Amino acid sequence: MRSLLPSRIIDTKRRGGELSPEELEEVFGGFLTGDVPDYQMAALLMAVHFQGMTPTELDTLLDLTIRSGTVLDLSHLPGPGVDKHSTGGVGDKTSLVLAPLAAELGLFVPMISGRGLGHTAGTLDKLEAIPGFRTGLTLGEFRSVLEEVGVAMMGQTEEMAPLDRRLYALRDATATVPSIPLMAASILGKKLAEGIQGLVLDVKVGSGSFLPGAEESRKLARTMTSLGNGRGVRTAALLTGMDAPLGQAVGNGLETREALACLAGGGPEDLVELSTALTGEMLCLGGLASDPEEGVRRAREALEEGRAVPRMARLVERQGGDPRVVTKPELIPSAPECGVGTAETSGFVTEILPVPLGYGVVEMGGGRRRLEDVVDPRVGFVLAVRPGDRVERGDPLGEVHAADRDGLELGRRVLLKAVALGSEPPPPIPSLIRERIPLH
Ligand code: URA
Repeated sequence: MRSLLPSRIIDTKRRGGELSPEELEEVFGGFLTGDVPDYQMAALLMAVHFQGMTPTELDTLLDLTIRSGTVLDLSHLPGPGVDKHSTGGVGDKTSLVLAPLAAELGLFVPMISGRGLGHTAGTLDKLEAIPGFRTGLTLGEFRSVLEEVGVAMMGQTEEMAPLDRRLYALRDATATVPSIPLMAASILGKKLAEGIQGLVLDVKVGSGSFLPGAEESRKLARTMTSLGNGRGVRTAALLTGMDAPLGQAVGNGLETREALACLAGGGPEDLVELSTALTGEMLCLGGLASDPEEGVRRAREALEEGRAVPRMARLVERQGGDPRVVTKPELIPSAPECGVGTAETSGFVTEILPVPLGYGVVEMGGGRRRLEDVVDPRVGFVLAVRPGDRVERGDPLGEVHAADRDGLELGRRVLLKAVALGSEPPPPIPSLIRERIPLH
C-alpha cells in the first residue's frame, strides 16, 4: 500500500474531517516506529484537541493503543481481575489504600499506574517513597506478584500500551492532555491491556481536575464507560470532587504515610469515604458484592479493622521494599526542614486551592518539570484546616516539609496563597461523591 502523507492526515483533522481507520493506523503506527516525527504528531494531537474525534475514530485509536503491546491474560487466576483509574488530582492517594483492600476482599488487582503530571502526583512516585520499593517490574515479575499477593503495582513498560506511553509524554509537553477522546483512549488503552473484567473510573470534577467543568467530566465518564462496556469489561464511573486536596497530606512520602495510616484504620474521613466507595464499586463489578452499597459496607469494615495491612506488607516486601514501613510509616524518610504556615488574618477558610499546592510541591522538588527529573519524596504539605473551618490570626494552616530553608520559605508562601480566608463562611461544601455513572 502507498503510504499516506502525515501532513494530509493532519490537514484533514484540522479542518474537522473524519480520519479513516487506515489513516489513523498509518499515522499512529508511524509514530511508534519513528517514521512520523514528534512535531507532526504534536500537530495532529492539537488538531484532535480542537476538533475532537468521531466514535469510530476513537474506537480505532483505542484499538491501536491496546494492540501496540501485550494484553495480559488473567483467566487462570482464581478470582476476578478488577482495577480502578483516576483522572488525577491533588492529595489523591486512594490507589495505595484500595488496591490492597480490594485484594484482601477477594479481587485480583493488576494495577498499572502513572507518574506525576502537571500539578498532580502519581501513584508510582508515592510507592517509591517506600525505601527499596520497585515499580519497574518485568511482566513476568508483575504476574507472579499478582498471583501470590492478589495485587501488583507497577509502571507502564514498553511491553504494555507503548503507544500511550509515547503519546502521553508528548501531550504533557504540548498542553494537549485535556481532550476527551485522547484521555479516553489513553486511560482505557492501558487499563484494557491489563486483561481485567471490571474497571471503576474516578473522574474528577472541580478546579483541581484536568477538565474545566462538570459537563466535560461527565462526558468523559460516559465516553469511557460505554467504550469499556462495549468491549466486554464491566465499567462504571464515579464523578468525585477535586475542589480541595483529598486528605491532609500533599507530597509523595507524606501521602504514602497518610495512606498507610488509613489502611491501619485511621486517616482522614474524605480519604476513607472515597477509597471505600471505589472499592465497593470494584467488588460489585467483580461479582463479589450484590450492589455497591454492600461493597462499601464490607470495604469500610475491613478498613476499620486494619485487615489489609498484612497484605500491603506482603506487597511491599515482594516488590523489594521495607515491609516494616507499613506498620511504622515514620520509617519513610522525612524532610530535613519542617515548619508551620500560620494565618495572617482571622476568618473562615473559604477554599483550599489544589492546583497551587500541587505546583508548590513540584517547585519544592517533589515533582517533575521534565520527564527525567528525580523527585524528592520528602517534601510537601500537611494541612491543618479544611474549607469551612474558623481560624484566628496566628493559627496553623498546615505544616511545610522542605529540603532546605529556601524550600521552607517557598512552601510557606504557597500555603498562604492556597488557603483562602474570608470574613463569611463558604457555602455548604458539596458531597465528595457527586454522581455515579452505572454500567450502560
Ligand atoms: N490519565 C491518563 O492515564 N491519561 C490521560 O490522558 C489523563 C490522565
